[in-house]
Amino acid sequence: MKILVTGGAGFIGSNFIRLVLQERTPWEVVNFDKLTYCGNLENLKDIQGDKRYRFVRGDIADRQLVDSLLAENHLDAIINFAAESHVDRSILDASPFMRTNVEGTMVLLEGVNKYKIKKFIHVSTDEVYGSITKGSFSELSNLSPGSPYSASKAAADLLCLAYWNTFKTPVSITRCTNNYGPYQFPEKLIPLAISNVLEGKAVPVYGDGLNVRDWIYVEDHCRALFEVLEKGKPGEVYNIAGSSEKTNIDIVHILLRLLGQKQDMIDFVKDRPGHDRRYSLNDRKIRKELGWKPRHDFNEAMKLTVDWYREHESWWQRIRAGEYLKYYEKMYLNR
Ligand code: NAD
Ligand code: TYD
Repeated sequence: MKILVTGGAGFIGSNFIRLVLQERTPWEVVNFDKLTYCGNLENLKDIQGDKRYRFVRGDIADRQLVDSLLAENHLDAIINFAAESHVDRSILDASPFMRTNVEGTMVLLEGVNKYKIKKFIHVSTDEVYGSITKGSFSELSNLSPGSPYSASKAAADLLCLAYWNTFKTPVSITRCTNNYGPYQFPEKLIPLAISNVLEGKAVPVYGDGLNVRDWIYVEDHCRALFEVLEKGKPGEVYNIAGSSEKTNIDIVHILLRLLGQKQDMIDFVKDRPGHDRRYSLNDRKIRKELGWKPRHDFNEAMKLTVDWYREHESWWQRIRAGEYLKYYEKMYLNR
């Protein structure tokens, strides 16, 4: 089996590639990534020389390049992680979100049709459903995105479903809740909070800190993607949840306790505009139909995560200093 992973130099994609090479040993992986500000090949340093793995730099919205990539490689499946993924950045400038998340997905769908690729997994998010006060969204709930980021993801989801309806493009969509774990870019709440505290700085908490997110350990998300890849049906949507809903302030308190710091290292700052109050998913479908469930307990996995950032200070310090951007040139371009 040969798979194309787009966005494999990012947080979830790099965890996914590592798990594939560990647990699906006959598979070959092509990692296609534009290396935007958050694409970091240091995330895959340990597997760089693996013969089953190849990296190609490029943009999923670049039609010609995607076409030649698909023509050269006889692929069995594509897993699309490539995206602009940070809500705050989408508020500052939505255009890269539209190009990558919407146009890029369309280019991949066209490629799947042209080269008759048998499976396309589109990795989406719970944020497409918008905020919910009580209860949880199922796969049949309406989409009601609240940020430019989630609007771009919802547009891509609808495009995937339209391609299934029109061309029978074999696409399955996954919608997962907030991930945490190793190699997450330290602009997102959990790695930002840990690295700030390790540098003796307070954690910025938006608004009243009572917004709720459901948290899943990244490895559990990757295992759910294995199930969808191997057993999922085309044209179907699968919600993936961590079943660990917490307010942001709870998350920060847990992190401060794990880091052995006083609970007052918090800065309440101006709220994010249009800040979704609560995300919540019902994931009975993937549990019942594909037999998936998360393996990690929230408290244990949070401890693993804090330990990882403690043990990999130079990884996030190089990101904060912008030095990780030179890694690609040194390792791949011999500069
Ligand atoms: P990330 O921002 O860490 O990584 C995104 C990767 O995509 C980077 O390596 C980047 O260089 C690459 N990329 C961006 N634009 C590209 C383009 N035009 N062509 C090729 N590569 C490009 O993101 P992440 O947190 O790993 O998220 C991966 C996917 O999972 C995204 O689609 C996101 O919407 C989805 N998702 C994330 C979460 C979460 O909590 N992080 C939850 C649910 C779903
Ligand atoms: P984030 O990690 O950006 O993920 P998302 O917005 O996609 O859910 O943020 C998680 C929550 O934490 C969200 O409610 C915004 C909040 N937040 C803060 O309070 N402070 C911060 O510095 C960041 C980055 C996020």
